[in-house]
Amino acid sequence: MKYLIVCAGKYGSTLQTGRWIGERLEGDVLVTEAREMADPGERDVVILGSGIYSHTVLPDIMQYVDKYRETLAGKKTAVFGVAIDTTGVFVRGKVHGGWSYILPLIERLPAPPVYAGLLGGEINPMKLDDGDREKLERFYKMMDMGDGVLFKTRMTKQAAWEFAEKLMNRMNSDWGHP
Ligand SMILES: Cc1cc2nc3c(=O)[nH]c(=O)nc-3n(C[C@H](O)[C@H](O)[C@H](O)COP(=O)(O)O)c2cc1C
Repeated sequence: MKYLIVCAGKYGSTLQTGRWIGERLEGDVLVTEAREMADPGERDVVILGSGIYSHTVLPDIMQYVDKYRETLAGKKTAVFGVAIDTTGVFVRGKVHGGWSYILPLIERLPAPPVYAGLLGGEINPMKLDDGDREKLERFYKMMDMGDGVLFKTRMTKQAAWEFAEKLMNRMNSDWGHP
């Protein structure tokens, strides 16, 4: 099986997660960044991942899907989001966070992916650009979570490997076909 993993991120956690997923997959795996726009033509399975910013995926991954829409229609696909809130909450009749982050990407695909999931990300204040640091500071203040942006990681190789294992199982079962 030939896999292409396409990652859209700003600070490296999506790419790292993509590499961990790739390590566990059995087959020929190529891990790329979305902005490289790698041609999925020769690949059997395309896995699309994005860091989550302000409740949604990054534009790079949507542009990738739009560019290769026709090719992707004939492929098996999978989707992952990398975020701090991987669970989500239900408030005032709506889902916030968790799955709601990656639904726009799932819905943009020409056919439903065989598998999708949310994986834990990371916030490293040492890496953030000024704009992102200010956004997070404002958000933390609003949520009464203190003034500074602290280091936080929810990334684990184990979760990425589980994603890869579940994807491989899904492809071998009826559950992978909606
Ligand atoms: C400006 C900013 C906005 C973010 N917005 C969200 C969000 O809405 N929900 C969430 O769960 N995580 C959010 N995060 C956390 C990122 O999803 C997390 O840092 C992720 O690992 C980023 O992936 P990357 O390093 O590949 O860019 C945000 C992070 C930043 C810096």
